[in-house]
Amino acid sequence: MTMPTRPESRGAVAVEPAPWLPFSVPDIGEEEIASVVRCLESGWLTTGPRALEFEQEFAAAVGARHALAVNSCTSALHLALEAAGIGPGDEVITTPMTFTATAAVIEHLGARPVLADIDPVTLNLDPASVAAKITSSTRAILPVHYAGQACDMDALLALAHEHGLAVVEDAAHALPTRSNGRMVGTIGDATCFSFYVTKTITTAEGGMITTDRDDLAERMRLMRLHGMDRDAWKRYAKGGSWSYDIVAPGFKYNLPDLAAALGIPQLKKSDAFHARRAAIARAYDAGLQDVPGVRTPQVAAPADHAWHLYVIRIESGELTIDRNRFIDELTARGIGVSVHFIPLHHHSYYKERYRYRAEDLPVATAAFEQIVSLPIYPKMDDAAVARVIDAVRDVAVEARR
Ligand SMILES: Cc1ncc(COP(=O)(O)O)c(C=O)c1O
Repeated sequence: MTMPTRPESRGAVAVEPAPWLPFSVPDIGEEEIASVVRCLESGWLTTGPRALEFEQEFAAAVGARHALAVNSCTSALHLALEAAGIGPGDEVITTPMTFTATAAVIEHLGARPVLADIDPVTLNLDPASVAAKITSSTRAILPVHYAGQACDMDALLALAHEHGLAVVEDAAHALPTRSNGRMVGTIGDATCFSFYVTKTITTAEGGMITTDRDDLAERMRLMRLHGMDRDAWKRYAKGGSWSYDIVAPGFKYNLPDLAAALGIPQLKKSDAFHARRAAIARAYDAGLQDVPGVRTPQVAAPADHAWHLYVIRIESGELTIDRNRFIDELTARGIGVSVHFIPLHHHSYYKERYRYRAEDLPVATAAFEQIVSLPIYPKMDDAAVARVIDAVRDVAVEARR
């Protein structure tokens, strides 16, 4: 993930390039390395005892009845919607301010993703916009806890209850996140987490589904591995039997033990990781609070936020440059940044298939023009955090109107 420094020269004098600060770097320590090596040496690499241990520890960490390890959050979302009975002709309401995976899995089931607008402050789904999009074909709401801050789950659950809808949460950013005192992972019908390499804990690629519903857990367990009535561990381990039956055309979404071996020590460190992310967020809040043209995130309950992302907003009216130029200037200063997200209705596929125009979702469209994600990860030291603050200040002060 580490990017090379880029050469730079001004006139005839070679200028030392700023060292490159990557947008994201995983925090892999000796525990993870030892755990993966032990797994390699054990002779059992695919789904087995380590995946099971990871599931049990994850379920305990969020307080859920069931946790199912899978090979990505994308497959988690697909499995959860399938188990919730989503199929052709159904509509699922979700947010445009997300990664394509959230909506693509709805289409994989032959259903239609319906995009509702977002709250201008939190950038999470706006329950009033969701309510306005409910039709007789709506079967589920798919909220995304953007950046690691919980959606207004009380309002969304009330709507779901009123209209008989399933709630499948995209918690790719939300470990650990709380909503009014409740852990994300214990709220909706099913909750899907990501362990992609940039996320708050990682297995390189991987995911987890939590649910308190036995019926959903049973269906997802079956569909996770080919619709097979017994998995490889049960067939090949001592005392196992060679025989199996296929009871549904399932998927290949299991998490290998090799990945779980990485996940187990990562999960043990997740409170420490979270504390560091929260400390960086506080440092950014303090260091950027009075910078011209830069707005820091307004968060009602900072301790409940996973701080997967720290998203600033560029008010270009106060500056001589726009958001894209702001990013170029930060990049030139050696700071790796990103944009989360290009809203779904701005992408060709969603525009062409559903005829979305930018003005159909005005809050998401306006926010997209402003957002910049700054680096935030436990491996960043205080000097790196100070460098980011200085770079943002420097760009804004130079571009002040
Ligand atoms: C909001 C959101 N949902 C889903 C995903 C997909 O996660 P994964 O890469 O684990 O499939 C991502 C990944 O970046 C994401 O940001």
